[in-house]
Amino acid sequence: MNIAFVSSEVVPFSKTGGLADVAGALPVEVAKLGHDVKVFTPKYGTIDEQKYGLEYQGWIGEMPVRVSGIDHPTHVHKSIIPDSEVEVYFIDFPPYFFRDKIYTDDFDEADRFILFSKGTLEIIQRLSWKPDVIHCNDWQTGLLPLFVKDNYNWNKLFHHTATLYTIHNIGYQGRFGKETLGKAEVKEGYFINFGEVEHNGAVNFMKAALSFADIINTVSETYAKEILTQEYSSGMDHILNYRSQDLYGILNGVDYNAWNPESDEYLPHHYSKKNLAGKLKNKEFLCKQFNLPFHPNIPLIGIISRLAVQKGFDLIARSLDYLSHLPCQYVILGSGEDYYEDMFRTFASYRPEKAASYIGYNNELAHLIEAGADMFLMPSHYEPCGLNQIYSLKYGTVPIVRKTGGLADTVKDWDERRSMGLDDGNGFSFHDYNGFALTDAVERAINCYSNQDVWNKIISNGMQCDFTWQHSAEKYIELYQKAIGKVK
Ligand code: ADP
Ligand code: GLC
Repeated sequence: MNIAFVSSEVVPFSKTGGLADVAGALPVEVAKLGHDVKVFTPKYGTIDEQKYGLEYQGWIGEMPVRVSGIDHPTHVHKSIIPDSEVEVYFIDFPPYFFRDKIYTDDFDEADRFILFSKGTLEIIQRLSWKPDVIHCNDWQTGLLPLFVKDNYNWNKLFHHTATLYTIHNIGYQGRFGKETLGKAEVKEGYFINFGEVEHNGAVNFMKAALSFADIINTVSETYAKEILTQEYSSGMDHILNYRSQDLYGILNGVDYNAWNPESDEYLPHHYSKKNLAGKLKNKEFLCKQFNLPFHPNIPLIGIISRLAVQKGFDLIARSLDYLSHLPCQYVILGSGEDYYEDMFRTFASYRPEKAASYIGYNNELAHLIEAGADMFLMPSHYEPCGLNQIYSLKYGTVPIVRKTGGLADTVKDWDERRSMGLDDGNGFSFHDYNGFALTDAVERAINCYSNQDVWNKIISNGMQCDFTWQHSAEKYIELYQKAIGKVK
């Protein structure tokens, strides 16, 4: 199969969250299974061209892409995903993509990703490469399935092209004013009378994809069920229920080349399930880095996250006083909403012996926290998949999570499993979205920590979990085939 994988962020070139991790790993696994996969992404100003060997595609030259009736002169660069043969094509239009941030609140945010989606189809045409499937991800590529079926349908190249749309986060839908129809050259007929691209009076990129993609999936089985409900769908439950026959859940994998305590390039001390000595040394190193007193027998709880409401920080805010009196320490790495950035900064400055924070984005620190912390806290309100709890399992850092989405599919509560007569629990989880449930789970974890044998068993159960990409890649191939079946 020929598969075009389209993503607004791809590791190692650009990243704001887990989508980038997926886009840097899944195409490589699919290619390993014998398919021709090409990745398409914007060329942001923040990408290190030298380091990643981006090559200008002179044979394509200037490539006009029409947005708002104007032909924008774009250019194309190419590289590969490191240690693979998967080609990555970068759409280059500096007025749109040379900004401080990957996503902005600027007035032309819709224009930027209309250009990206159309630009992808323009490159594919110039490659004369017939994609069997175009795999789109999140709202930034939401109009692409519509473009394939309509605007670019004049080109025979796309006559049998199927589209798969993956929802990584339903909270971000790409909602814009009605004038966006003209910018993207989307027919008004798709908007009026509650049409395919309309939602609450706005043009909604995600809804367009949910209407036009041949197959839809999200990144865990539980989340695939949750988004059919009003509570979790952010308004998309009607269209999703309508498409429920075409909706699937596939759990993300993990790139264990990048996330493995036995070989992690960022760790001062490597360790394994058989020999955990290095973990304690990493904890000491981490505490030093953060100026936190090192206590080998007091649990250190790590948080690494976008600081957004989605991640359950309102629960932490409500319980912070209680949490600050528990016999544990905290180390927090994150950036995002000002309120939560300030909350953690203040917590750390008032209780320097208890908590430390780094407000910002820092990949190296993310690895160090995964290795040095004893527990990892992720009380998300909703979580399509979640990667950090899966990294945590591998690093022997016991996850404490809210039982939702991918968190529910990866973390098994120790006490709950014990009550069923099983000793395969690998973490702690709670269901009700309230501060009491959260602090109860944290306290249960702290209690177990003091029993060395129990704690080692929980760590070992987690470290032996295997979430390699290969398994998920095989499932994606089945979905590609299903999608192709629908256009034949
Ligand atoms: P989401 O995509 O919703 O942000 P995921 O758990 O899927 O959540 O993925 C988050 C990814 O981003 C992980 O690889 C995590 O390590 C990384 N990450 C999040 N915040 C930071 C940060 N402040 N610094 C470094 N890495 C971060
Ligand atoms: C999203 C989700 C996260 C998921 C990631 C990759 O941003 O919030 O749960 O792991 O995408 O699929």
